[in-house]
Amino acid sequence: MADTLTVIDNRTGKKIELPIEHGAIHAAELTRLGIVSYDPALLNTAACKSKISYIDGERGILRYRGYPIEELAEKSSFLETAYLIVKGELPTASHFRMWQRNITMHTLVHENLKQFIQGFRYDAHPMGILIGTVGALSTFYPEAKNVMDLESRRVQTRRLIGKMPTIAAFAYRHSRGLPYIYPDNELSYTGNFLSMMFKMTELKYKPDPVLERALDVLFILHADHEQNCSSTTMRAIGSAHSDPYAAVAGAAAALGGPRHGSANEEVVRMLHEIGSADRIPALIKRVKAGELRLTGFGHRVYKNYDPRAKIIKRIAYEVFEVTGKNPLIDIAIDLERIALQDDYFVSRRLYPNVDFYSGIIYEAMGLPVAMFPVLFAIARTAGWMAQWAEMLLDEEQKITRPKQLYIGHDERAYVPLDRRRDGGALETEVSGPL
Ligand code: CMC
Repeated sequence: MADTLTVIDNRTGKKIELPIEHGAIHAAELTRLGIVSYDPALLNTAACKSKISYIDGERGILRYRGYPIEELAEKSSFLETAYLIVKGELPTASHFRMWQRNITMHTLVHENLKQFIQGFRYDAHPMGILIGTVGALSTFYPEAKNVMDLESRRVQTRRLIGKMPTIAAFAYRHSRGLPYIYPDNELSYTGNFLSMMFKMTELKYKPDPVLERALDVLFILHADHEQNCSSTTMRAIGSAHSDPYAAVAGAAAALGGPRHGSANEEVVRMLHEIGSADRIPALIKRVKAGELRLTGFGHRVYKNYDPRAKIIKRIAYEVFEVTGKNPLIDIAIDLERIALQDDYFVSRRLYPNVDFYSGIIYEAMGLPVAMFPVLFAIARTAGWMAQWAEMLLDEEQKITRPKQLYIGHDERAYVPLDRRRDGGALETEVSGPL
């Protein structure tokens, strides 16, 4: 048996044989028949080869560089996992110390960046602040445009992983009208983040070790997830050789959408709206009628329980030992149970995803709902940088530029304004504030 696919164009009888490699054919080969492959939302298109994350959606498996997510969540730290994702191997003890030091060196931001954040409105969404501020970083580091320079890529990667928590915490403090807290480099990555978020007048902030570890595990779980919408955006922007700050700003903008990384925000809002378990059946009825989606459920790749959701569900109870129970967990568990007994969800293979339980933990830790996608972005920066570098070094990659199927008008002549009749595209008069 040959590892090939035979395609016959029945319009012409022309036959071509396409090699099958890694279970895929090269769509570009179809041009030999004058045919384009049409795949809206890229449902069945692999746009790259990657060695970073592996997902088996049928079996609910996620691995970073071959290591099972469960093992990393139990034994690793976020910074070690970030090293693994970015560099491809777990570090030795001395390389890990160096990495920790190198990231920590970059936690401070230029004072002008602080003023930039201060320029946002008092009620600006922290995700908007994060997106704008990360984009602005490129003006501070113009050498970052040398994307094919290994040393430049390394520095920008350390800078971005180092600075994201600082920008995120400043965005939060801004929304509360609180003074910004500078990084404390004696603390761990997540301990320092909690300090920058919550330190008040005490001389030294002491993070609770259980909460510090819980946040670290949540960061591990969010660090990469193969070709999701934001990583795809990172690759697409990066393929134009834009600098990584601009690319991360774009990736974060994609992550900020409710179908992607701000679903956790929506889940908590939804659970608050439900309020008590007896109102779940009414919500399920509305979901089944197509009025809304059950946020935190369903995934493009997982057709089984998202392995990250399982780990998060377990951590929730460890966090509650410190913070007291967040009553939303009972509603979430009932909602999951009821949904997973319902044929609508069973037949569509809709299970809780990573966002279903994460927001409940964040809320119990006192992190405001609007910060949830921002937390996701801090962790995902490691994945974005790894995906970006992998794309740049992949000799098969070029600037991302998909085809389209044009279904618009054929050529037509311009009609002068005074000879046009009503109809077609309309504009309505706008009134109210500008
Ligand atoms: N609630 C109700 N029905 C759903 C849901 C849901 N959450 N998700 C999918 N469906 C239905 C959908 O209506 C469709 O039904 P039908 O075949 O009758 O039209 C079927 O399931 C397939 O859905 P789809 O929209 O084709 O699936 P997709 O792969 O394009 O979408 C998704 C994936 C994650 C966008 C979607 O499941 C969703 O909107 N979920 C809610 C938002 C959410 O939790 N997002 C976080 C994703 S995980 C973290 C991340 O990636 O950031």
